Amino acid sequence: GPIRLADYRPTDYLIDTVDLDVRLDETATRVVARLRLRPNPLGRAGAPLMLDGGDLKPLRIVLDNQPLDLAKVATPNSLRIADPPRSAFTLEVETELNPSANTRLEGLYRSNNAYCTQCEAEGFRRITYYLDRPDVMAVFTTRIEAARDEAPVLLSNGNPVESGEAGPGRHYAIWHDPFPKPCYLFALVGGDLGSIHDTFATASGRKVELGVYVEKGKEHRAHYAMESLIHAMRWDEFVYGREYDLDVFNIVAVSDFTMGAMENKGLNIFNDKYILAIAETATDADYAHIESVVAHEYFHNWTGNRITCRDWFQLCLKEGLTVYRDQEFSGDQRSRSVQRISDVRALRAAQFPEDAGPLAHNVRPDSYREINNFYTATVYEKGAEIVRMLRALIGHDAYHAGMALYFERFDGKAATIEDFLSCFAEASGRDLADFAQWYAQAGTPRLRVTGAYDAQAQTYTLKLKQATGPTPGQPTKKPLPMPIRIGLVGRDGAEIALAQEQPWSRREEQFGVFELAGAERTIVFKNVPTPPVASVNRRFSAAVIVEQDLSDDDLLLLMAHDSDPFNKWQAAQSLATRLMVRSTAAIRAGDMPVFSDDFADALAAALENHQADPAFAAQMAALPTENDLARDIGDNVDPEAIFLARKALRDGIGRRLSQRLLAVYDQLQSDAAYSPDAASAGRRALRNACLDLFAAGNHAEGAEIALTQFQRAANMTDKMGALSALSRLPTPTREKALEFFYRAHCDEPLIIDKWFSLQATIPEPDTLARVKRLTRIHAFNIATPNRVYALIGAFANGNPLCFNAANGEGYLFVADLALEIDSVNPQVAARLLSSFRSWRNLEVERRGRAEQALRKVSETTGLSPDLRDIVQRALA
Ligand code: ARG
Ligand code: ZN
Repeated sequence: GPIRLADYRPTDYLIDTVDLDVRLDETATRVVARLRLRPNPLGRAGAPLMLDGGDLKPLRIVLDNQPLDLAKVATPNSLRIADPPRSAFTLEVETELNPSANTRLEGLYRSNNAYCTQCEAEGFRRITYYLDRPDVMAVFTTRIEAARDEAPVLLSNGNPVESGEAGPGRHYAIWHDPFPKPCYLFALVGGDLGSIHDTFATASGRKVELGVYVEKGKEHRAHYAMESLIHAMRWDEFVYGREYDLDVFNIVAVSDFTMGAMENKGLNIFNDKYILAIAETATDADYAHIESVVAHEYFHNWTGNRITCRDWFQLCLKEGLTVYRDQEFSGDQRSRSVQRISDVRALRAAQFPEDAGPLAHNVRPDSYREINNFYTATVYEKGAEIVRMLRALIGHDAYHAGMALYFERFDGKAATIEDFLSCFAEASGRDLADFAQWYAQAGTPRLRVTGAYDAQAQTYTLKLKQATGPTPGQPTKKPLPMPIRIGLVGRDGAEIALAQEQPWSRREEQFGVFELAGAERTIVFKNVPTPPVASVNRRFSAAVIVEQDLSDDDLLLLMAHDSDPFNKWQAAQSLATRLMVRSTAAIRAGDMPVFSDDFADALAAALENHQADPAFAAQMAALPTENDLARDIGDNVDPEAIFLARKALRDGIGRRLSQRLLAVYDQLQSDAAYSPDAASAGRRALRNACLDLFAAGNHAEGAEIALTQFQRAANMTDKMGALSALSRLPTPTREKALEFFYRAHCDEPLIIDKWFSLQATIPEPDTLARVKRLTRIHAFNIATPNRVYALIGAFANGNPLCFNAANGEGYLFVADLALEIDSVNPQVAARLLSSFRSWRNLEVERRGRAEQALRKVSETTGLSPDLRDIVQRALA
């Protein structure tokens, strides 16, 4: 059955210290674990000791120098000692592992001929028997031994203590981590790796040796990651007063990694796509991801490691908070408004559909069957939005006072969401009991906004009303406290000063952030000289769906004049959405799609007015995606009609604005050497967006310009911008350019991933055949998560037209692949199958086909717990 939050109780035993001795071998690694245990005063006296194992092969088990009978106490998945000593004792266990056969990428495995580990959430039990849960915190000392030429680099958590010879051709290194930690933060690495080094002096003068380890020969691609790390370390001191606490901080990049990266204490291990970058191999978006993931993992040192989670239900305690921190960091490094827009885009693309479908769950779930399936956009991204809303409600000062309390009170502890919120309740003097409901209730609230102007009284009345629809297992919902940032824009485009009829709270007065505490609120503004347009939920202050009674003209006004860049962008998105949703309905009724010259012209004006922030203009140019439109439509979704509607708008814009788009494109041409900074990246983004729209309306000329850009490009951003525009034009040129690109980069898997994704997202009928063909080429490998995400993930999530082909072949393809991958890497299989999360919203025929594919999976025997959990919830 499922594991429930309500059933939490402390362990019967604690582990104080762990001494690991790991002798690395490709197929027969030996691990000796010496655990100092003692009864937990909070546990049941005399209870049996039950340790977790995962497919382990035990060789020897010794309790206080007494060898135990393996057959009596151990199975591959557990170790049970019926009557352990009533005071402290030592358990020594030797296990043998085969890292080369470990394709699950949990526990100890090999990637590019190096040894590495991934223990979160429950991988440590695949190394040795343990109390594998985050509230068991121990001090680890790790001795690693290996053949010197196979693994000259030996790393683990904490500080290096000792190293030396270990017999002919062999050597060892000992690492000691003084900070007690749960085993999910354990890591070790061994291999013949290249590295770059730097140092960092903390505010209080500690000197920290920094290292970034990569595949040999790629050291020159690690510098941006190192710079990002140093910026992150400085930022956390400056903004949160958090200093680093060990003598070394190491990052290792590996090519086989299920997730983005891992915050192991003092030894972060990364998917190499979030470390490696030079102009020739990485796009501006890659650089931005590197900056944010490096910061994210570093920030975990305080929010995750020094203060960890009591149990896995509290995952959002570390992840939501750390995502919020990394988003703010990136906002400070780049453009705040552009960062906010891209974070909200990501939230809407990944979390909103999750929240609106069968996989919806609380930010803090009540129960789970497989914890790995809860590393979700809801836990991470919605979790971050909750912290952001908390801060908006209590204000900057109380937020930081609360964080200071949190660090002080819970340092070295395994904490809960209640612990976290108690600090802010105390710092702000507010009761946060209602706010806590954000963690306990799934679904995205809808905020209905209606406005009425009274010319006589010169007042404007704004009504806010929230409601959240049912989600699986939660038929009724409570209203949630939410901060709504509001401004009024006059017909002339000028901001109208807010003067409220009733008394204001101080924060409302200072910042225009209004608190919606219950289901409804009416706000009356006075001294409003002319009918205003309300700009509501500025900066996306609350993570909700706003439904506001704005006319097309109102949206055009906000698009041109809103002083809040987020809502300026939002107005363009809303108007474009409205046009395309109308077109979708028209197309389904056999009519022509609609077009708006006014919208196109307003868009052109925004792009031409790019000097202040070209990255922002590029965001304006990016129309809502097909998936965005499907979500807006909500049910009875016809992906083909949506595709045609969006295509019609893009083509129309490209045709109407062709000269204006080309003019901006030409203005932004630059011969300067590549620099990944935000301003330069913004200019490239806008230029590529102009090319993309231009080509949509002018195929022949667009293909020509794109080809020229492709041939001349001196950096990957411009090359991919060109190839991306080309890939949407079904011409022989496209195939030649794709072929050329492949030959130029076929020995660079991370670049070939871009090539896979581009092709997987071509919205044409024969794309599935193309993707199937690509799965058979040498560069593809279902055992490497990055390849699967780049090709199959891109097809399932980024090509709604083909994934949702009416005959169901897209569904079957993805379902079959998930089944095939399941025996290799269950986590990747489960992630892939999550692409079905919105299947219930489809029109009836496709819904039936999607269900067939899901049934095929659910009826297969021998599914992993991971895949079984997803398919069962998807079908429930
Ligand atoms: N804690 C990591 C991060 O967010 C994620 C690792 C989770 N891995 C997993 N296999 N569930 O930074
Ligand atoms: Zn994280």
